[in-house]
Amino acid sequence: MKSDSMSQVLVVDDEARMRELCVEVLSMSGYTANAVSSGEKAVELVAQGKFAVVLLDIRMPGLSGIEALKTMKAVRPDVGVIMITGFGSIESSVDAMRYGAYDYILKPFRLEELSIRVRRCMEERESRTKMKALATQVNSLLLGTISALVKSVEAKHLYTRGHSERVSRYALEIATYYPFPDEQKRETIRRAVVLSGLLHDIGKIALPDSVLDSPDKLSDKQWKMMKRHPITGSKILAGINPLKAAIPGILYHHCHFNNPGGSNSYPRGRSGEHIPVLARIISVADTFDALTSTRAYRKAVSKYDAAEVIEHEAGHQFDPEAVTAFCHAFEVCFAVWRIGRD
Ligand SMILES: [Fe+2]
Ligand SMILES: [Fe+2]
Repeated sequence: MKSDSMSQVLVVDDEARMRELCVEVLSMSGYTANAVSSGEKAVELVAQGKFAVVLLDIRMPGLSGIEALKTMKAVRPDVGVIMITGFGSIESSVDAMRYGAYDYILKPFRLEELSIRVRRCMEERESRTKMKALATQVNSLLLGTISALVKSVEAKHLYTRGHSERVSRYALEIATYYPFPDEQKRETIRRAVVLSGLLHDIGKIALPDSVLDSPDKLSDKQWKMMKRHPITGSKILAGINPLKAAIPGILYHHCHFNNPGGSNSYPRGRSGEHIPVLARIISVADTFDALTSTRAYRKAVSKYDAAEVIEHEAGHQFDPEAVTAFCHAFEVCFAVWRIGRD
């Protein structure tokens, strides 16, 4: 049995005899076991990351087992929790599974049963950690491949070189300042925005060079083709599971916040809060990069002029909250812009 902190088990029970018994059995099975008598103390210890598995009594004075479970899972989602329950609280144990408990064990239980459940919980937790590490590896590999693909596509066109990477980085900064309702939502969007920014124009892969590099105003036919790139991009990615979170940003990054019928707002029909926040953020980032980059048909404007245009469009083309977030992130965005050109 491993003796590192991750083989540690915490027993939480208000009955002293039960605590002693559990610690003894677990120690005999090779675990490092500690015990506390209250949910409050248990939450404090779990928050410090010292325990892999917690045996948690449901009925305790003060913080109940269920309340303690919820807090533990919020601060340490990876901790394995097994509820200890009597006949009178089986329903609460089933509830506990919904809040993230791994298992529950019914009092009175056979002592060898306790070790078996803890071992299973440890094994499940370990395999989850391995899967997570593997997923992280696969994701970074995927991100590297996508980055290389996007760069090779953009490199063919002088005027868009580096565009998607910069948009991705600006968008990440904007997401940092955007007023999300909670930090969990911010993290979800921050993760998605990196991918979505990198891939937002991937649909342009299907456009001919004559459209992408046109020095003149696009003809009606060319403009129609150009306006299809968000749909084409989202279709390309629809079958790739790890990239699905990026699709809303790709599909709606040209939707105007308060002008859904305008000819520059596409695809049609979405406005305001109905445009996914991911797309509202990318839209600002995309415009900042487009304005501060020279294109075949016009010269770049200064960062201040670009910011002024964006501020002027708050509540019109752009989500005003995304514009405020952009203003907070402006200096960082500009630093990113400069690095890209040095
Ligand atoms: Fe685009
Ligand atoms: Fe773009």
